Amino acid sequence: MTDATPIVVLVSGSGTNLQALIDASADPAFGVRIVAVGADRGGIEGLARARRAGIDTFELHLRDFASREDWDAALAERVGSYAPELVVLAGFMKLAGPCFLARFGGRTLNTHPALSPSFPGMHGPRDALDYGVKITGATLFVVDEGVDTGPIVAQTAVPVHDGDTVDTLHERIKSSERGMLVDWVGRLARDGFSIDGRRVVTPRKDPA
Ligand code: GAR
Repeated sequence: MTDATPIVVLVSGSGTNLQALIDASADPAFGVRIVAVGADRGGIEGLARARRAGIDTFELHLRDFASREDWDAALAERVGSYAPELVVLAGFMKLAGPCFLARFGGRTLNTHPALSPSFPGMHGPRDALDYGVKITGATLFVVDEGVDTGPIVAQTAVPVHDGDTVDTLHERIKSSERGMLVDWVGRLARDGFSIDGRRVVTPRKDPA
């Protein structure tokens, strides 16, 4: 087996997607090693999960920097210090800036709790519920300079139930999202990928 692919995961919240990656990484066959977990805020369960797993953590708070550009440069530098091959944004509530993308563009993945291109932004579950769609889901994509606009790696669909609240809907999305994230981060790390326009190309074909 080849060496595990080093990845850095960035979080802003409860970190259940991170936990799914931590759990999967315990199996060497998964082919991923989480070398650090970073956050834009402190006191979150996502960081606690990383610490309990013995993973290096760091915090870079926007308010501690003179400008967003400075914060972006510091984030790029800190992530780069771990020499990751892939960066995974798992509930990271900040946009990757130009400096970060210059270094990690094309190898930063983000997961968004809606079926792109519908409902981009910070409130995917709420916006889907308000619109009245019957199916929503989650989208894993390669980050570009837009808001949830990058080439799509994978999507998973879930039903919207009568009586759903934003929380019940988001929880249903997250239970599918975690499986998608684990499957595809493992697959991309093990097999590699390239980007052809809006398509993410992997060496193996999907089953017919
Ligand atoms: C996930 O649903 C993720 O898609 C979403 O935050 C949740 C994090 O959950 N991300 C965004 O909305 C990014 N704009 P978790 O902290 O339990 O993994």
